[in-house]
Amino acid sequence: MLSGLVMVVAAVVAVGWLAYLVAGSVRGKGKEDVAVNLRPGDSNEELEGKRLDTSLVWSVAFAAFLALSIPIYFLGEVDRQAGFEDEFYETALEHGKKLSATTEDGGLNCMGCHGANYVGGAASYVEPRSNVTVTWSAPRLDTIFYRYSREEVKFWLIYGRPGSPMPAWGLEGGGPLNDQEIEDILTHMESLQLPQDEALALIEGDLAAAQRSLEGADASVAATLADQQTLVSFALDAPQYETDLLRLHDEITALAESEGIDVDGDGVSDEAENGLPALFEEVASLGLDQYAVAGVTNVDLPSLDLDPRNPVTNGLLPDGDLLYGYIDDEGHEVEGVLSRLIKTMQLFEIAAQNQERTLDRFQLGLDFLEGAVEDELWEVDVQAVADATFGGDVDTAQRAVNLFNANCARCHTTGYSAGPAFQGPIGGGGFGPSLLPPRALIQFDADPELLASFLISGSEEGQPYGVNGIGRGYMPAFGGLLPREDIDLLVAYLMGSTLGGPNLMEGGS
Ligand code: HEC
Ligand code: HEC
Repeated sequence: MLSGLVMVVAAVVAVGWLAYLVAGSVRGKGKEDVAVNLRPGDSNEELEGKRLDTSLVWSVAFAAFLALSIPIYFLGEVDRQAGFEDEFYETALEHGKKLSATTEDGGLNCMGCHGANYVGGAASYVEPRSNVTVTWSAPRLDTIFYRYSREEVKFWLIYGRPGSPMPAWGLEGGGPLNDQEIEDILTHMESLQLPQDEALALIEGDLAAAQRSLEGADASVAATLADQQTLVSFALDAPQYETDLLRLHDEITALAESEGIDVDGDGVSDEAENGLPALFEEVASLGLDQYAVAGVTNVDLPSLDLDPRNPVTNGLLPDGDLLYGYIDDEGHEVEGVLSRLIKTMQLFEIAAQNQERTLDRFQLGLDFLEGAVEDELWEVDVQAVADATFGGDVDTAQRAVNLFNANCARCHTTGYSAGPAFQGPIGGGGFGPSLLPPRALIQFDADPELLASFLISGSEEGQPYGVNGIGRGYMPAFGGLLPREDIDLLVAYLMGSTLGGPNLMEGGS
């Protein structure tokens, strides 16, 4: 807009100047050139009459133009400024949106882990203590501005969260993004924040999910353990499978490529059509799909009727496509049986060749999980919490436990985000400090109000809290996301004598 105005003024000046030059040359036409100092001067009459009037009229007109145009220009200034801001905002929003999109959409995959529109999601991650690949939940970010200030969110973006799948993104943290890019992501994230009533409406669903996860914990741990046992046997059995698969691969290839009588003329010899089904059968009987957890996909065998007298396979199987794959009518690649077999074989081959290392790694995970099954650290004794803290009221105790698990455990209980099998003692500390009783009593001087106000506003960088805490701004504020009654339940729970897990006293065992 500003540039538009400048252009108009420049154009007016240019046109004026041109007109002046033209007028000058027309006026001077036909006259003899006389040196300026020899020309007779204008008479007084001329100077003080028409000439003066003309220039005065022009001066007044120009002054009036200036006097009017400046206020008119400034009258529009506020709107213009707002217009720029809108424009900058839109650009930042667009840029932030691009950066935070999933990998498939060409972004940095924020939404691949944190869910579309930041509703929460999960990431595959090698849990460092066990070396087991787990599904680590990634928090929803569409309410994060209720929990953290923009500066605090920016900190997580720049430095990531060590010991979790959250990478560092800022240059200072060793990531790829400059300050402007981080700001644009933040602007976009801010635009996706839920209105507060919608954020509050999420509570009951979150609590129900936390309770379901508690109730399903035994089954989930059992499944994790079974998968790990499968991985160990995968490593143990790999050499045998490799041998079997190699043999079957060679037999299938030789037979498929055999050139002999081909009665139905479909490009596959009679010998092959007669012999292949048995070999496919044999591959199926290996039961490869039991190793799905190791990334082995079953080699789907063709349900095609290989009949040496039926040429119907002709259209489907031009020249060994069945074996090596082809591009179908819609342009999609269809993998052949042999290509899949070869891939699977390679997987077993790698496992067989690195058997010792693979086995060590899987065994470490198995030991870890067997220890977890023994310790049952995910178990919560809700009755004990009810008796110790809530006058025997189990429902209230359960709500307190759910509130803690849904909002706090991911930072205050080691491994909570990785699933119950990987969980440390409830409230035993993780990214945040241990909250095992009597920690909260001591830190907050047995004053519920003091703890409540800490939970409501969170920690602030460099600001002391409680008796001897120094905040780093990492502890979120919950005042905007949990009603006061729920905050009070959490306060009572933390100040009670048990969090429902094994009674590990802080510093003791
Ligand atoms: C590989 C998966 C992954 C990717 C990619 C990822 N994050 Fe995260 N992010 C996580 C996980 C997991 C956590 C929680 C860490 C924990 O358990 O403490 C997290 C935490 C965060 C937090 C702190 C949230 C809180 O409440 O504690 C913010 C903010 C965040 N991520 C933003 C982003 C942005 C923006 C991007 C893209 C530039 C991004 N993340 C990319 C997995 C990911
Ligand atoms: C994103 C991680 C995170 C979440 C989620 C979280 N906290 Fe914290 N919390 C921390 C960190 C880190 C500290 C230490 C203060 C700091 O570094 O700023 C802390 C400190 C505390 C303290 C003070 C501990 C002490 O003795 O010094 C209490 C109490 C506490 N948190 C309770 C909670 C409760 C209750 C919730 C859930 C409603 C919760 N926290 C959720 C990270 C978290």
